[in-house]
Amino acid sequence: MELMEFGWTGEKISRIGLGLWQISDAWGLTDYNAAKKVIETAYELGVTFYDTAIVYGDGLSEEYLGRVIKELGIRDNIFIASKIPGEYLARDDVYRAVELSRRRLGVDVIDLMQVHWPPLWHNIPTCEYMKVLENLVHHGIVRYIGLSDFPVELIDSARACLGYTDIASIQIRYNLVERDAEKEIIPYAVANDLVIIPWSPLAKGALTGKYTPDNLPEFEDVRRKEPIFHPSNFREVYKLVKVLEEVGEKYGKKPAQIALNWIIAAYPNILPIPGAKNPDQIKVNVGSVGWRLSYEDWFKIDQVSREVIIRRVIL
Ligand SMILES: NC(=O)c1ccc[n+]([C@@H]2O[C@H](COP(=O)([O-])OP(=O)(O)OC[C@H]3O[C@@H](n4cnc5c(N)ncnc54)[C@H](OP(=O)(O)O)[C@@H]3O)[C@@H](O)[C@H]2O)c1
Repeated sequence: MELMEFGWTGEKISRIGLGLWQISDAWGLTDYNAAKKVIETAYELGVTFYDTAIVYGDGLSEEYLGRVIKELGIRDNIFIASKIPGEYLARDDVYRAVELSRRRLGVDVIDLMQVHWPPLWHNIPTCEYMKVLENLVHHGIVRYIGLSDFPVELIDSARACLGYTDIASIQIRYNLVERDAEKEIIPYAVANDLVIIPWSPLAKGALTGKYTPDNLPEFEDVRRKEPIFHPSNFREVYKLVKVLEEVGEKYGKKPAQIALNWIIAAYPNILPIPGAKNPDQIKVNVGSVGWRLSYEDWFKIDQVSREVIIRRVIL
């Protein structure tokens, strides 16, 4: 497994992580043994970064990850990232949320605790929750702090609340057909030596090549209302998928592997965390690291991807 440093922390982690939102009703991986196989396969293939959250399956994702860690005895070999939802950011709630996360995960220390999204509806001052997180770092309960789905202005304000540590990472929506993060957030992260953690790096499966405009299912999961899969958008996405297939043939790689490698090649310090529903998917996704697209192929994909516009307002 190719390794990378987790930004300024210097921690060595795998070049690709595993997203664990799939362990939830939203995605449907709710059978423990099936979920265990995915995590176990990822671990055997050298994945050391696991991204979960309190809201994934209302704690199920954390609980299953904790059970697998205990059964396999792998706590010391992996990096656990979880998230506190924007609703739980009042002072006491942060302490309680982290305590419950630790219990579900069955660990003393959480490696990266991210604020999942800003407190949109509860009027909690930014410094209130950032100072609690810093206090948890001081006590060794949380090792590093991360932000997720924050705009640059608020990231700046949040960092200014911290006295003796800094955030280590920024998690954002980013993939070949949703590239708005390139305008502000990614340049900010690069300039500030913060790790960029792109979520939905496979555009929720749209870039894998297994969905075509002719076989697009009526999704029953989180994708039911996902604009990427609206036929008018997906027809555009599919033009890019054909290019990923074409480039993939040169490298003996699948479209998903080309899509993930394109992200890794795009910036320093970027850590995609694709989700996987079964061991075969994680095997493919791990095959996206340890090599690089040529500059010419990277650029060709870049150009085609820029022509894809995902419209969220559909007329
Ligand atoms: N911070 C946030 O707000 C936020 C938001 C979203 C996600 N996340 C994190 O990011 C992770 C990844 O994002 P995501 O789950 O939304 O999307 P994603 O990683 O782009 O897509 C995952 C889905 O694509 C399909 N897939 C994955 N690998 C495949 C392969 N090799 N071949 C064919 N199909 C494959 C699977 O679904 P099917 O088999 O059903 O097609 C899988 O569930 C999540 O697990 C979560 O940890 C964070």
